[in-house]
Amino acid sequence: MSRVLAIDGPSGAGKSTVARCLGRKLGFLHVDSGALYRILTWQALAYGIDTSSEDALTAFAPTVTVDFAVRDGAVVYAVAGQEPCDCIRTPEINQHASPVAKVPAVRTRVTAWLRGLRRFGDLVVEGRDIGSVVFPDSPARFYLDAAPEERARRRHTEEQQKGISALNADAVLASLLSRDRIDSSRAIAPLKVADGAQVLDTTRLSIEQVVQAVYDSLPTDWRTPG
Ligand code: DC
Repeated sequence: MSRVLAIDGPSGAGKSTVARCLGRKLGFLHVDSGALYRILTWQALAYGIDTSSEDALTAFAPTVTVDFAVRDGAVVYAVAGQEPCDCIRTPEINQHASPVAKVPAVRTRVTAWLRGLRRFGDLVVEGRDIGSVVFPDSPARFYLDAAPEERARRRHTEEQQKGISALNADAVLASLLSRDRIDSSRAIAPLKVADGAQVLDTTRLSIEQVVQAVYDSLPTDWRTPG
């Protein structure tokens, strides 16, 4: 059975960059689970589904097919031959993704997709419920956190660099806090520290320091690539 390094935490805690670096260092494939919730949200909006209707999303989720492939050290996704890029990172998708991710049928679909990805090999999977629900048996589960203002600052800079945000820093903070609230309070698989997960506050740490801290806490026999 392939190995899974689980990295959870709220948005802007540094999960994506840290997960990518660790994937390269360990020879594990990077898996962005949030992108799958975003893809379901993007598809729901494209098909005119009311994202506030649990019934509509419950009927819709099983109809979405995602194709998976491995490229450049990551698992990549495509829907009907199209790889979603920044179109799943817009303020509109940000706003709709948390309500969509609350729906049990959506979570069931994404969880099944994620578990199936072990067929590709060792994985470093980032998300909200990876260590608590998707891969609770992993011996390497981490929860990255940071002060909300710092998380908003990172997200804002990232969005500006990509040229995809019309929001100012305060609005980014408000949007992030609102998503945190929904993600942490939902009934199923809420954002929380998994039992036994190691918590790292990244507020004052560089990416390199976080990567090293996670690396140093991994099971000894994981610390060589391959
Ligand atoms: O990490 P992100 O911002 O791309 O995640 C998009 C949305 O999906 C966000 O509302 C949190 C949710 N999500 C989740 O509920 N469970 C995961 N494992 C990953 C993301």
